[in-house]
Amino acid sequence: MFRIITHNKNKYEEMRKIIPELEMLDMKYPEIQADTIEEVIDFALDYLGDKIEGDFIIDDSGLFIHALNDFPGVYSAYVFKTIGNEGILRLMENEDRREATFKTVIGMRFAGKNFKFVGLCHGEIAREMRGKNGFGYDPIFIPEGYERTFAEMTTEEKNRISHRGKALRKVAAFLKRFGP
Ligand code: IMP
Repeated sequence: MFRIITHNKNKYEEMRKIIPELEMLDMKYPEIQADTIEEVIDFALDYLGDKIEGDFIIDDSGLFIHALNDFPGVYSAYVFKTIGNEGILRLMENEDRREATFKTVIGMRFAGKNFKFVGLCHGEIAREMRGKNGFGYDPIFIPEGYERTFAEMTTEEKNRISHRGKALRKVAAFLKRFGP
């Protein structure tokens, strides 16, 4: 058993397909305003480590759109809540450079120490929203080498190539070697 602390059921469902023994602890924690996802994770790990006994992981992700100087990046959650996918498509309306990168950093508290596991997925921003699966920016993100958006894929397909899938497989390898 290993706990993922998140308020986001979608993330948990994706992660459970890779590490079935994961348990979700539904809890909010402070996400500081910082320049990098790594700093957000470091702060949250220390904060939660003081509050919670035992081992756990957390996930923080962001979408970095190259033509927008990597916006929304660390502001991805706020931007999704405010302007959403429609707003991003509007910002990208007359833009032909559509490359973007999804990044996940999974933070792990293990035996009182902090660890980080990173996963990247390159792709591009679609011209319109497509698909019903997944969550967040999935309907506007087309991973490299594909024509479908993440929202047009099954969870298994997305996991195989996604930022979160890659980071989580590193976690799985770590746990296999050092875990209980
Ligand atoms: P956070 O990791 O929960 O802070 O996520 C930041 C923002 O990115 C939120 O609006 C999420 O909905 C979105 N997001 C995180 N992971 C993904 C993903 O795998 N696909 C699409 N959107 C995501």
